[in-house]
Amino acid sequence: EKGGHKHFMAKEIHEQPAVLADCLKTYISNNAITLPEPFDFTGIDRIIMVACGTAHIACTVAKYWFEQLARLPVEVDIASEFRYREPPIQTRTATIFVSQSGETADTLAALRYCKDKAQSVLSVVNVPESSIARESDVSFPIHAGVEVGVASTKAFTNQLAVLMSLAITAARQRGAIDAAREAELVGQFAHVPGLINQALGLSGHISDLSRKLATASDILFLGRGSMYPMAHEGALKLKEISYIHAEAYASGELKHGPIALVEETLPVVVLAPRDALFDKTVSNMQEVMARKGMVLLVSDAAGITQAGDDVWATIQMPDVDPIFAPLVYVVPAQLLAYHTAVHKGTDVDQPRNLAKSVTVE
Ligand code: F6R
Repeated sequence: EKGGHKHFMAKEIHEQPAVLADCLKTYISNNAITLPEPFDFTGIDRIIMVACGTAHIACTVAKYWFEQLARLPVEVDIASEFRYREPPIQTRTATIFVSQSGETADTLAALRYCKDKAQSVLSVVNVPESSIARESDVSFPIHAGVEVGVASTKAFTNQLAVLMSLAITAARQRGAIDAAREAELVGQFAHVPGLINQALGLSGHISDLSRKLATASDILFLGRGSMYPMAHEGALKLKEISYIHAEAYASGELKHGPIALVEETLPVVVLAPRDALFDKTVSNMQEVMARKGMVLLVSDAAGITQAGDDVWATIQMPDVDPIFAPLVYVVPAQLLAYHTAVHKGTDVDQPRNLAKSVTVE
């Protein structure tokens, strides 16, 4: 049942190229995005996205996509904060609720709060017959298949894929991109399962590096742009299954506080594809290295060359169009957490104190 893997989590990490390809079959045809159910993004002025945990992190990645591609303002909130804050919902607002299980109590309550206030209530779910799917106006399935490991992996990746499909659709409908640009984006999108597959080939190397991480008491994750939420995903996965304290910061925030933590024993994982912000990230990394922090750089070949020899270790990723990078850089984040936990000997699939579906608040 674990398909030759030691844990469901490993099986589910390795399934990602296949389940993502399955999902893309539903959302792509003829070089364009085709939503399984139509939705009109032209009648709205803003989006509010609400979720918990990893699904909330998927929303924070999607904010970059909706803003950059469709020029639509996006607010993202944690369901337990949103529901009790009772925020005003302006007209011409679409709300999007993201949930693997579709049963998370706080997310469902936030959805019900929006039902008679928002112009539309959308959801992105893995379980199509779930409460969140049933109670939304339009529900978009992520087609990840059953996820057993408590730490979400393939569901997160497919949530990202569906949210990217919505962002591209919104961009087209609102005239922010033309058909040629859409075809170009969709062409890149179709390559992502292959790139994830290449990243999975780094598992052995990541396992070697994780032996050292397993001895750390704290680990810092840094990223800029859409890699900032990915830093949160890396830190969350690591905390959940290895019980090592980890924190994520936007690279630019380093000197506003967390740099005080840096010393020889602190691993600092830097998620940095060579994009427009790379030079700035390199200078943040140099600040860490000057204080003897152990930098683990996750970047492509050009980025690793540019970073120089002072980094503690590197994970060399395939080249990827920066806008799709979160879908590929999630793999080393997952594998670092997985292998670190395996080296520590923790219960990877059933971490202490956690449940797969949080149906009570
Ligand atoms: C983390 C994890 C949790 C869930 C969260 C929301 O790996 O799995 O943080 O993402 O409990 O669950 P769903 O998506 O079912 O609403």
